[in-house]
Amino acid sequence: MKVAEIIFSPTGGTERVGDIIGGCMSHMPQKIDLCDGGKDYSAFELSPEDMAIIAMPSYGGRAPAVAIERLKKIDGKGARCTLVCVYGNRAYEDTLAEMEDTAKECGFKVVAAIAAVAEHSIFPGYATGRPDISDKKQLEEFARRIMSNTEEVKFIPGNRPYKNAGGGGLVPKPGKACVKCGLCAEKCPVQAIDAQSFIADPKKCISCMRCVKLCPEKTRKLNNVLVSAAALTLKKACSVRKENELFC
Ligand SMILES: Cc1cc2nc3c(=O)[nH]c(=O)nc-3n(C[C@H](O)[C@H](O)[C@H](O)COP(=O)(O)O)c2cc1C
Ligand code: SF4
Ligand code: SF4
Repeated sequence: MKVAEIIFSPTGGTERVGDIIGGCMSHMPQKIDLCDGGKDYSAFELSPEDMAIIAMPSYGGRAPAVAIERLKKIDGKGARCTLVCVYGNRAYEDTLAEMEDTAKECGFKVVAAIAAVAEHSIFPGYATGRPDISDKKQLEEFARRIMSNTEEVKFIPGNRPYKNAGGGGLVPKPGKACVKCGLCAEKCPVQAIDAQSFIADPKKCISCMRCVKLCPEKTRKLNNVLVSAAALTLKKACSVRKENELFC
């Protein structure tokens, strides 16, 4: 049995969760990076004995459109799959439902689903440091429970039609200390950043925060006033610790 981690993780939180689960199921899980727009995803091969861990963050309670679009290029070939939605302690709403519909459309057999919490990539003051030691223990326990599952999962939460995809508006900019190293433009999952000016196209940017996280000069940032205002509106929903959930 091959274990494959199919992961969209612009700032690494989703990957950390996926690695905990995948590492428990296999010593050497194969990795497919959905952030890499240049990959030929259709060339990736699976069989019904395999287990795929499909992991994505929740953006506004939905799966990121670009991750869904890239996942659709993979032929599941009847492989079992565990869906993993990672969210920043607010809510994941219809993310798992959308992932379930897409995985089935691709030919995967969905045998489990997990909603897990990781540090909020826009507001790191929420779910700070998660997944932590207690999350790791719980996710490993989930992984051991589901790794031999062969039956389709009976219930995954979420509404159909899905809620409207919101978002947009929070577009990071290079600061005065920018040394024009080009890393942000190279690593942007949707090629939104101009390779000369390092300004992002607001129509393409999905506000994933990868460029902010990767900037070696720590000079790529969001507008502070906008971030503080948005963080306040989420305070009530994000402040109380939410636990990871398993559906199988
Ligand atoms: C554009 C955007 C929208 C987000 N929307 C939500 C949300 O609706 N609910 C929530 O709990 N977390 C939300 N988050 C937080 C992420 O789901 C969370 O931080 C996740 O771990 C990010 O994944 P990554 O570290 O793999 O990039 C959002 C983050 C971004 C960048
Ligand atoms: S990663 Fe930072 S320093 Fe490098 S080009 Fe982008 S904004 Fe400038
Ligand atoms: S420009 Fe936007 S989409 Fe590209 S890495 Fe930065 S935040 Fe993400």
